[in-house]
Amino acid sequence: MCGIVGYAGPKDCVDILLDTLSKLEYRGYDSAGIAVFDDGDIKVVKHQGKLAYLIELLKKEGRPRGNVGIGHTRWATHGEPSDINSHPQSGKRVSIVHNGIIENYAQIKEFLIDKGYTFESQTDTETVAKLLDYYYDGDDPLNTVSRALRDIRGSYALGIIFKDYPDKIYAVRKDSPLIVGVGKGENYIASDMTALLEYTRQYILLEENEIAAISAGTISIRNIYGDPVDKQVLTADWDADAAQKGGYEHFMLKEIHEQPTAIKTTIMPRVSDGMVDFSECGLDDKKLSSYKNIYIVACGTAMHAGVVGKYVIEQLARTKVIVDMASEFRYRNPLIEKGDLVILISQSGETADTKEALNISKRLGADTLALVNVKGSSIARDADMVMYTHAGPEISVASTKAFTVQISMMYMFAFKLAYAKGLIDTDTYKDYVAKLIGIPDKIEAALDESYVSQAQHAASNVTAAQSLLYIGRGFDYALSMEGSLKLKEISYIHSEAYAAGELKHGPIALISQDTPVIAVATQRSLYEKTLSNIKEVKARGAKVILICSDGFAVKDDEADYVVRTPDYDEFLMPIIASVPLQLIAYYTSVLKGIDVDKPRNLAKSVTVE
Ligand code: G6P
Repeated sequence: MCGIVGYAGPKDCVDILLDTLSKLEYRGYDSAGIAVFDDGDIKVVKHQGKLAYLIELLKKEGRPRGNVGIGHTRWATHGEPSDINSHPQSGKRVSIVHNGIIENYAQIKEFLIDKGYTFESQTDTETVAKLLDYYYDGDDPLNTVSRALRDIRGSYALGIIFKDYPDKIYAVRKDSPLIVGVGKGENYIASDMTALLEYTRQYILLEENEIAAISAGTISIRNIYGDPVDKQVLTADWDADAAQKGGYEHFMLKEIHEQPTAIKTTIMPRVSDGMVDFSECGLDDKKLSSYKNIYIVACGTAMHAGVVGKYVIEQLARTKVIVDMASEFRYRNPLIEKGDLVILISQSGETADTKEALNISKRLGADTLALVNVKGSSIARDADMVMYTHAGPEISVASTKAFTVQISMMYMFAFKLAYAKGLIDTDTYKDYVAKLIGIPDKIEAALDESYVSQAQHAASNVTAAQSLLYIGRGFDYALSMEGSLKLKEISYIHSEAYAAGELKHGPIALISQDTPVIAVATQRSLYEKTLSNIKEVKARGAKVILICSDGFAVKDDEADYVVRTPDYDEFLMPIIASVPLQLIAYYTSVLKGIDVDKPRNLAKSVTVE
C-alpha cells in the first residue's frame, strides 16, 4: 500500500527518489510523485499511472534540482487514480506523502473549510497537508506535527517537508511502516528497507507516533510530547542483489526459482541432531504440546499456507487447528482463550487485518506466535514469540517463495508437535525431517528439467478462458485455493477452487467446453476419487489439465494435458506441487501480456483494512 521515500544529502535527490521509488512500486502503482526543495521553494511533480510516466514527464518538462525531497508511489484509497489525487499533497507551506487511511478526514476537512481552506483533490491526505499548514506558526515544525497528530484518527506513515526548513524531512507513523535509513552525510526515509539496500543497510525502526526529523547530517527522534527518544541503529541482512531481477524477466520468475534456496535457508538453521529446534522463540516440547487449540490467522496467500498447516498439523499431530482470514476473525468475536496458541502468518509483517488479529488474540489471553518474513516488522515485534522465514525480499505482488517457506515451517511445526505429544517415534520424526530437507533439491531439479516447459504448455491451454475451476481433495484442495488465487491475481481470468467432492453440489453447473479445469491430484490415497471427479467434468465437455505425481497412471481419456511432479512422500507433496501452480499462473500472465509483477488494482503490502 503506497510507497514512501525521502532523501536529504549532498546528491541530486531526484535521481535517488526515482530509483528508490522504483524499488517500492510493488506497494502500489496508480500514480507517482516527488516534492523537492528547489531554489527556496518546494517543487512538486506528479503523474497518474506507473513511475515510468513520472520519469517521462520529468524528461519532457525538466526536473527540479535539489538535495532534499520526498517521493511517493500510490495505491488509491480515497479518490480515483489521477494527477490531482497523486501525492505529494500540499498546503501553502508544506508538502506531504502518505500511506494509510485518515478515518476522520471528512470532519477535519469540514473544519478547515470553515477556516477558509479550499481543496482540490478527493484524498484524505490533502486534509493532513492543510491541517499541518493550519497549525504551522513558523516555529519548530515538530510542534506542528505533534499538534496535528492529536486531531488525526486512522493509520498513517507520513513524509513531510516544510517550505521554511529546506534541509529537513519529518517522518511519523502509526499502523503503517516507515523507517529512517542512516547513511554517511546523507539520510533517508522509506516504507521499507528494500528501497534503500543500494544506499545503506543501516536503519532505525520508527515506533508508533515517534516523530523523526532528518537532514543530511542529523537524525533526531522525539515522541509526541517532544521528548528525545534514544534509538538503536539496526543492520539489514538482505543484500542489494536480493532486490534486483538478476537476469530474470520478472521478479515473480526469479522468486519462483529462488524457492529451493529460500526453503533451505529457512529450515536448516532449525534442524539440530536431525530434529526440529524452535528454541529461538522459546517453544519447547512441553509448551508446544500444552496448547488446547491452535488458530492460524492470516490473509491471502499466507492464509492458504495456514490451510496447508491445518491439514498437516491435524493429520500428524492431532491438535485441532482453526484457520481464519484475519479480516473475518477480527470481527467475529472468536472463541479464543488462555491455553490456545494463535499463529499469525505474514510475509510483510505489516498486514493491517493480521496485525489487528494479533492484538485481539493477545487481549483474549492466548499465546501468539508470528511467522513473518520481514525482520522487525510490526507483527514480528508485537507477538509473544516470533519465527522468521528467511525467503529474502519478495518483490512481486504475487507471493511465491514466501508461501513455500511458510508451509515448510508448518511441517516443522507438525513434526515437532507430533513428537512432543508422543504420536511419532524418534526414527519417524527424523525420517520426516530428512524428507523435508530433501525437498529443495527435488524442486531445483524439477525447475531445471520439466516444470517450466510443462507449465508453459498448460498455460497456453488456459489463456483464452474466461473462467476456470481448480479442483482437488485434502492437501490438493488447499493447493487448488492457492493456485486459483495466483491465477486470478496475475492473469485476470476468473477462477475458483473447489473441493473435488463438492463439485456436484453446485459448481458443476459452471462446466462447459469453455471452462477448463485444473485438477490437482498428488495424494495416491485420494487419486481414484479425484479421477472420478475428473471424469464427471470431462463428461460435460471440460478440458482437464491434471497435475499429478510422476508415478501415477493416467489414461488418454482422463486428462487433456498432464503436468508431472517428481514422485515423493505424498505427505510432503504440497511444497513440491505448489511450484507448477505458480508457473502456470506466471506463464498465463506472460502470454496475456500482463505486467506480471504489478497486476492491476493490487498491492503487495496491505496496510489498510
Ligand atoms: C496481499 C498480497 C498477497 C499476500 C497478502 C498477505 O494481498 O498481494 O500476496 O498474500 O497481502 O500479505 P502478508 O504480507 O501478510 O503475507
